[in-house]
Amino acid sequence: MMMNCVNLKIWLLNFVTLFSILSLSHGRPKHLEFRVRAVNLGGWLVTEGWMKPSLFDEISNKDFLDGTALQLKSVTTGKYLCAESGGGSIIVANRTAASGWETFRLWRINEDTFRFRVFNKQFVGLDGVNVVAVSNISTDSETFHIVKESDNSSRVRIKASNGHFLQAKTEELVSADVSGVSGWGNDDPTVFVMTIAARLQGEFQVTNGYGPTKAPQVMKEHWSSFIVENDFKLIGSNGLNAARIPVGWWIASDPTPPSPYVGGSLHALDNAFFWAQKYGLKIIIDIHAAPGSQNGFQHSASRDGSQEWGKTDESIHQTVRVIDFLTARYAKSPSFYAVELLNEPLAPGVTVEMLNKYFKLGYEAVRKHSLTAYVVLSNRLGPSQPKELFPLANGLARSVIDVHYYNIFDDVFENMTAQQNIDFIYNNRSSQLNNITTSNGPLTFVGEWVADWRVKNATKEDFQRFSKAQLDVFGRATFGWAYWALKNANKYWNLEWMIKNGYIKI
Ligand SMILES: *[C@@H]1O[C@H](CO)[C@@H](O)[C@H](O)[C@H]1NC(C)=O
Ligand SMILES: *[C@@H]1O[C@H](CO)[C@@H](O)[C@H](O)[C@H]1NC(C)=O
Ligand SMILES: *[C@@H]1O[C@H](CO)[C@@H](O)[C@H](O)[C@H]1NC(C)=O
Ligand SMILES: *[C@@H]1O[C@H](CO)[C@@H](O)[C@H](O)[C@H]1NC(C)=O
Ligand SMILES: *[C@@H]1O[C@H](CO)[C@@H](O)[C@H](O)[C@H]1NC(C)=O
Ligand SMILES: *[C@@H]1O[C@H](CO)[C@@H](O)[C@H](O)[C@H]1NC(C)=O
Ligand SMILES: *[C@@H]1O[C@H](CO)[C@@H](O)[C@H](O)[C@H]1NC(C)=O
Repeated sequence: MMMNCVNLKIWLLNFVTLFSILSLSHGRPKHLEFRVRAVNLGGWLVTEGWMKPSLFDEISNKDFLDGTALQLKSVTTGKYLCAESGGGSIIVANRTAASGWETFRLWRINEDTFRFRVFNKQFVGLDGVNVVAVSNISTDSETFHIVKESDNSSRVRIKASNGHFLQAKTEELVSADVSGVSGWGNDDPTVFVMTIAARLQGEFQVTNGYGPTKAPQVMKEHWSSFIVENDFKLIGSNGLNAARIPVGWWIASDPTPPSPYVGGSLHALDNAFFWAQKYGLKIIIDIHAAPGSQNGFQHSASRDGSQEWGKTDESIHQTVRVIDFLTARYAKSPSFYAVELLNEPLAPGVTVEMLNKYFKLGYEAVRKHSLTAYVVLSNRLGPSQPKELFPLANGLARSVIDVHYYNIFDDVFENMTAQQNIDFIYNNRSSQLNNITTSNGPLTFVGEWVADWRVKNATKEDFQRFSKAQLDVFGRATFGWAYWALKNANKYWNLEWMIKNGYIKI
């Protein structure tokens, strides 16, 4: 029998009310269940591995990009230059081995002019002619030229802006007071043997490395060729239903972001939404680089490895404005699904207090524009508790906890066999995930994982079993999962390659 009109209206009203209540709570009715099977689109933000390797080729003097860590051994004392006490004092030349205090991080001013930053973050400068590391302010510091020996680039001189070369005058005194030099002999106190201890290769390094004239054109070329419409088509036709897209904070001031970043990232994100809609995909916007850097890694656009985000309220408010901007822009797109407020905050530099403050404000900024978007909160890397965000997340409807499960970075995986890695997924990862899965708390998201490991000589079948194990276990995450990444220089981190070659079946 047909329902009469009034009953139908009441029934509909009840249904709609019930539906809105359900959709605003954490859980969803079973028959509406949708789980994200996503791929990360590393490349929206350029970083080593997630861009064409040739992107670096044209940078002049590319040994010396921002953040390059130099160690300098005096040929006369046979010892390393060192910021005494790690910084805040003089530079000495009396250390027999090099690690933190003996490492100088570069800030690139142009291809042959640099500032040097020491362990405790001070910049190297001059006190008269003596070389010191006391200023916390970059502009109060000295700039230096690095002059390489023409036929041996590991032998260098360093020229200060007073026009004089640095010399290890004694083990305890480094000064900038030599003008005439000749030859590169081992008796010359102005000669140092340089070792590059570490490099950073993220978007800061690429854009500042190319400089304001060339960077815009290089980035434009990258955005128009690295991930294109056809990739969204491929995602949609291979069992995936979403993409997690990492972006940098400066996207909110596109097309004129602060130097060295260049305009165009917002247009690239607009394209992603357009293509996602065309192929029926959802998008998770992921703030991968927050102002000051939330983890010091190159992929959060740290200039020199330092981690400053969250130490000031301004860095938090600035990030909230980015969330507000992006949510306002995309809230009406049918592909807009979730906003991840901050990727991989690192403990102990980022504290739970900083995150609680930011996540609450970021959540409110999303809700100003969307009642339905999921808001993803990331667990911290480093020493932290798996449920430390629950007191906050429990009170936030449609919130999600993101965990990143890699069997590769931690040394516990060093000597594991293929089978042990697979068992680890079915046992340990499974209980870690269970541990954070609750019936009425936040949903769970394995926002990054990869079918790569430390196993040597693994067979294709090993990889297939390993990826299947992860799909089985991470498929139980109540929000879903996202593979890192669609395209990557390493084939196992390149989902496109993994799918095409039968290493993974979604
Ligand atoms: C630099 O910063 C450190 C740590 O915040 C502080 O102790 C020191 O006084 C500062 N130095 C100067 C010269 O401002
Ligand atoms: C370059 O200099 C380093 C440091 O003095 C030395 O060990 C190395 O043998 C030199 N290389 C060449 C090709 O001369
Ligand atoms: C190096 O010289 C400084 C300054 O005189 C001194 O404080 C420090 O103990 C010396 N370090 C070594 C390892 O000799
Ligand atoms: C892995 O094996 C090597 C060589 O036997 C050993 O030195 C290392 O400590 C082992 N690593 C772990 C985490 O057990
Ligand atoms: C995995 O879990 C088992 C059982 O709880 C535990 O004994 C083992 O130490 C864990 N393995 C690692 C590598 O953490
Ligand atoms: C489960 O969570 C508790 C509390 O946060 C933590 O102490 C414990 O180590 C976790 N266990 C696993 C297997 O992750
Ligand atoms: C991997 O294979 C190479 C070449 O077949 C062999 O020399 C090496 O010992 C193998 N390594 C392991 C860990 O089995």
